[in-house]
Amino acid sequence: METNDTGGKLLDRLGRPIEDLRVSLTDRCNLRCTYCMPREMFGPDHAFLPRHELLSFEELARVLAAFVDLGVTKLRLTGGEPLLRKDLPDLIALLSPLEGLQDIALTTNGILLPRVADQLAEAGLDRVTISLDALDDETFRKTADTPLSVDAVLAGVDAALAAGLQPVKVNSVMQRGVNDHQIEDLAGWARDTGVTLRFIEFMDVGTTNGWIRERVVPAAEIHERINARWPVEPVGATADGSAEGASTDGAGRSEVAERYRYLDGGGEVGIVASVTRPFCRTCVRARLSAIGELYTCLFAAKGHDLRAVIRDGATDQQLRDAISAVWLARSDRASELRAEGGLTGERVEMSYIGG
Ligand code: GTP
Ligand code: 5AD
Ligand code: SF4
Ligand code: SF4
Repeated sequence: METNDTGGKLLDRLGRPIEDLRVSLTDRCNLRCTYCMPREMFGPDHAFLPRHELLSFEELARVLAAFVDLGVTKLRLTGGEPLLRKDLPDLIALLSPLEGLQDIALTTNGILLPRVADQLAEAGLDRVTISLDALDDETFRKTADTPLSVDAVLAGVDAALAAGLQPVKVNSVMQRGVNDHQIEDLAGWARDTGVTLRFIEFMDVGTTNGWIRERVVPAAEIHERINARWPVEPVGATADGSAEGASTDGAGRSEVAERYRYLDGGGEVGIVASVTRPFCRTCVRARLSAIGELYTCLFAAKGHDLRAVIRDGATDQQLRDAISAVWLARSDRASELRAEGGLTGERVEMSYIGG
């Protein structure tokens, strides 16, 4: 294995190991959240990836095994909507025996979950993260651009809890003037339901979602509002008293959320402050597109084609070397650069590269 002098760990140019791989299984979705897949851009004319271009489950298992050999311990299956990929439990069953893999999670909008939650758990899926931006139908329908009702997502949350896909996390992207009136309602619901809610700052990921800074609800404001209603304390505090960003959880794995604990025993709430408190310094995340391109940052313009490597008949060692070479050259820190003066240029869409 090609590594630099780090006790065997593969480190990038800023000294960050590769630990967390997020795999997009499809660029399609059954919702059209305005911050992610605005219908004007992702309508009937949009050229989604043709099915034959996608990595097969066997190819995915081979590529992911190479990442695990190189140090990845945490896997997140995402999309688009990963449950649109048929027979997903079969893929999970191929991945769960991988030695060294500690955690397999799935990011989903929850709508198709009731049908498959039990099978996913049986196949070895550890947990799910469900996206939900509002609890009232009017706001939900506006943000997800769907005629469905919130109940469809809540049924997914219930199915995940019943199947033991825990801890169940719920991600809410906050947009000022759109759904920020829901902060307390969402937090109260999560406390009552026993799920961990994470509020997410609206990001300028991709180039189609019409991002403007005025729409971002800063993490500090979200924290203040929650704390006013249910006092919280940071889990793993920093010197300024805020929760530590990009911290590690109890199991020592990296995560992007600043974590807070309710003082009354109501569990935890998280805030992902990618805009106001970027966490690139500790970013150990790699991303794989549904057609096998390796991206080293959410804001990258281009990926590195690993599908060509495997379809050209590479050995496992050659595959690992190809991945190592990309990681060793990595110096991405887009969110910090945004904070220093803005992002420009082409960048991949989040529905393509994964949430
Ligand atoms: P857990 O392991 O369950 O804590 O998940 P996680 O910490 O990996 O978080 P999750 O996948 O739920 O990500 C939450 C949100 O944070 C994503 O949907 C993105 O909006 C944002 N996010 C995740 N990773 C990155 C990243 O590498 N860079 C930036 N800028 N934002 C990210
Ligand atoms: N800003 C922040 N998060 C986003 N997501 C998608 N688009 C954006 C954006 N513009 C994330 C959300 C969602 C997941 C699938 O992707 O967290 O829950
Ligand atoms: Fe689909 Fe998730 Fe994007 Fe919404 S945020 S459009 S549910 S991939
Ligand atoms: Fe990592 Fe890029 Fe996100 Fe920074 S912006 S945390 S480097 S994915």
